Amino acid sequence: MIEQNESYNRLDKRNHMKSIYINLKEEKNDAVLKQVGESVRKGEIILFPTETVYGIGANALDKNAVKKIYMAKGRQPDNPLIVHISDTRMLKELVEEPNETEQKLIDSFFPGPFTIILKRKKIIPNIITGGLDTVGIRMPSNLIAQKIIKYAGVPIAAPSANLSGKPSGTLLADIREEFEGKVSYMVDEGLAEIGVESTVVRVINQIPHILRPGKITAEQIKEKIGKVVIDEHILKKCDTEEVRSPGMKYRHYAPKTKCILVYSQNEQNLIEQINELIAKYKNVLVLGRTEHIQNYHTKNCIDIGNTKEEISKKIFTSLRKVDNFHVDLVIIEGVDKSGIGLAIMNRLIRACEYQYIEC
Ligand code: TXA
Ligand code: MG
Repeated sequence: MIEQNESYNRLDKRNHMKSIYINLKEEKNDAVLKQVGESVRKGEIILFPTETVYGIGANALDKNAVKKIYMAKGRQPDNPLIVHISDTRMLKELVEEPNETEQKLIDSFFPGPFTIILKRKKIIPNIITGGLDTVGIRMPSNLIAQKIIKYAGVPIAAPSANLSGKPSGTLLADIREEFEGKVSYMVDEGLAEIGVESTVVRVINQIPHILRPGKITAEQIKEKIGKVVIDEHILKKCDTEEVRSPGMKYRHYAPKTKCILVYSQNEQNLIEQINELIAKYKNVLVLGRTEHIQNYHTKNCIDIGNTKEEISKKIFTSLRKVDNFHVDLVIIEGVDKSGIGLAIMNRLIRACEYQYIEC
């Protein structure tokens, strides 16, 4: 029991709700993680950190536990969940034998921000896969996530921790209210290291297809396998019928305030275009790069960082702030699409509901 545990002081009991808050920002504590893992095995659901974004997790082999995730998020039942493992030995039980290309991807990118779609075995409940005969498998590199899975002794099904449609949670403080009382534990490790969700890949005819871009880039996959295809829906609106990754067809990441994405390779053009929009709409907010914001003719700016790594880390927390400004338009600076830039643009273009100016 928590009460008998020396880590008791780290458990925030101010909220006499069902959710127990665990602060592991400074110190890691195995005894507490063991309890969290055991609660998962017993069918409870939790919020926990991964290197990409926070997850809301349940025992992947327990369909009633998994159902609680869909209810807590308000998630569409045809949008499948990723199953998280802590050891490749867990794979055998869950999926059919990977082919040569799939195995090479697993060897290259596990553990890490990478999800591979494989043919599932019957042990995976239908509720996880939304009726598909495949399942997404990921082995996180985050140590807390790994330990929770290990202590649970079962794979953990976990979508990003956010209400459906909202930006993914990268800071527990951003999502605590959304899930208060809905989960048994909330494990806080501070801001997630990467900030955008894992790269989702499916191998078709021995060629890796990127269904969702992430920190593991097209360039890295091509280097390992020799070939890579970027799904056409990554920067384009999906036609509901033909989408390969069901998650791509839903409204995602978008604040209530109207947003527009602006990008130019030429810095001067970018700044001029954004200042034109500011002059036209007046009551605006700009999400801009550190080195650019002093050039904008408005004080309403959120600094999203300079490098693509910084932007990736801050993008969801920044998007979560914009509705508080009560403006008519949010103007968001885009980035170039190389490396992790493709993942950032994939999330931003959805946040802006495909309102995009390239100049
Ligand atoms: O980084 C991440 O992947 C985070 C952390 C918590 O691991 N998880 C995450 O899960 O982003 P979620 O559910 O928010 O996104 C999973 C995406 C969705 O777009 C879903 O449609 C797709 O992966 N997906 C899952 N299983 C699939 C399958 N069998 N076939 C095609 N796409 C699948
Ligand atoms: Mg998600």
